[in-house]
Amino acid sequence: MTRRAFLASTGAGLALAPLGGARAAAASELRLRAAPASVRLVPEPYGETPVWCYDGSVPGPEIRVRQGDRLRVLLDNGLDEDTTVHWHGLRLPNAMDGVPEVTQPPVPPGGTFAYEFDAVDAGTFWYHPHSNSVEQVARGLYGVLVVEEREPALRVDRDVTWVLDDWRMTEEAELAGAFEAPHDMSHAGRLGNWATVNGSSPGEFAVRAGERIRLRLVNTANARVFGLQFEGHRPQVVALDGHPVAPHAPEGGQVVLGPGMRADIVLDMAAEPGAKTPVVDAFYRNREYRLLDLAYAAEPLRREPPGWPLALPPNPLAEPEVEGAVRHEMMFTGGAMGGAIMAEMGGSMGPVGPRSFWFVDGEAPSGDIPEPMLTLRRGRSCVIAMTNATAWPHPMHLHGHAFRILTRNGRPTAHREWRDTVLMDPRERVEIAFVADNPGDWLFHCHVLGHQASGMKSMIRVL
Ligand code: C2O
Ligand code: CU
Repeated sequence: MTRRAFLASTGAGLALAPLGGARAAAASELRLRAAPASVRLVPEPYGETPVWCYDGSVPGPEIRVRQGDRLRVLLDNGLDEDTTVHWHGLRLPNAMDGVPEVTQPPVPPGGTFAYEFDAVDAGTFWYHPHSNSVEQVARGLYGVLVVEEREPALRVDRDVTWVLDDWRMTEEAELAGAFEAPHDMSHAGRLGNWATVNGSSPGEFAVRAGERIRLRLVNTANARVFGLQFEGHRPQVVALDGHPVAPHAPEGGQVVLGPGMRADIVLDMAAEPGAKTPVVDAFYRNREYRLLDLAYAAEPLRREPPGWPLALPPNPLAEPEVEGAVRHEMMFTGGAMGGAIMAEMGGSMGPVGPRSFWFVDGEAPSGDIPEPMLTLRRGRSCVIAMTNATAWPHPMHLHGHAFRILTRNGRPTAHREWRDTVLMDPRERVEIAFVADNPGDWLFHCHVLGHQASGMKSMIRVL
């Protein structure tokens, strides 16, 4: 994708409806219908884009429940193919995890499935299919699940969600086909050429000077890593993948989100009334583009930023005992241009095939269901040391658990953050630790969905 081809630049200066959690539904019992629809992703004079989505909108409805509440969702499949819903990042019973053939039978066209679970952890989560996800997510099937803290925990003026996605559009504003193009799967994945925030490219987001916003960022893209810079502002990261972290400024001023990842940031609106300041996605070198402008109203809300505390209460996660933990090594190999790195790092790989470009410990699962690479007794602490011996970044996602990121390239991380997805750079070594306290078979896979579909997945069994 060239910068010239990036349609987002043509959307400059558009002022559409203000973004925000307008679709919030307080109900803890709801129906979700997955079906084709047409939505306006790209402004006039383009037409609407045919998509697949939940309840006729992209993103699907933002579900909001309170921590400790029980959520019941009846999925209704209006697609022409099987689907499921995976509740990304939620620690829930295995039977509710939404992985077809592993945790439930796939839901056929016209079928339904009742998901029901307790919201154990507060935070920003999301939902999406786990059937043919490389196509179903790219076509627009996803939504956000916010679990609010039991007590209002973080004082802000506004709680806002930005769902970040990119789409590969044709000149007719239709989604380009070939969701499993071998070139995409063996390289960076299906990158798009049109970026949206909450399903449109609004150009502006209205704010007021002095206002404090909790901004929940969710990356639902198949492959794009977002690196957001809020020019003239000093975001404070307060939660990652839903879980509270010691409030801190993001490294280099950039909030980085690989596919599947979330960040909650607190943003004090520090510019002058009437100002317009850009929010830029600068993750890929020389490919930066303006996502939108923060557009300040003429009237400030207050003169000084509020001094309210930033810390969130922790979620009830068991602390892994690193000493005496089960240790497991994993190496990722394969993909384009990875041969030299693999040789240098001492990896191996099996035969490359139409759906085998990536290898976990030298193997690509032949079918959709990988064999368990690791079986853990319930309650055991586990450290997984992963090596990315490929030329590409990979956001590695574990189902049913959250893990601490202990080290990167042998150095302890500054925040030992809890996450459900860790973005690994090429050649990087990362150690994570968790307590295997949730019984069942749990996928562990790359969230670049084309990588997942072509070998980059494995499974952990907790007995
Ligand atoms: Cu968000 Cu296995 O997925
Ligand atoms: Cu990957």
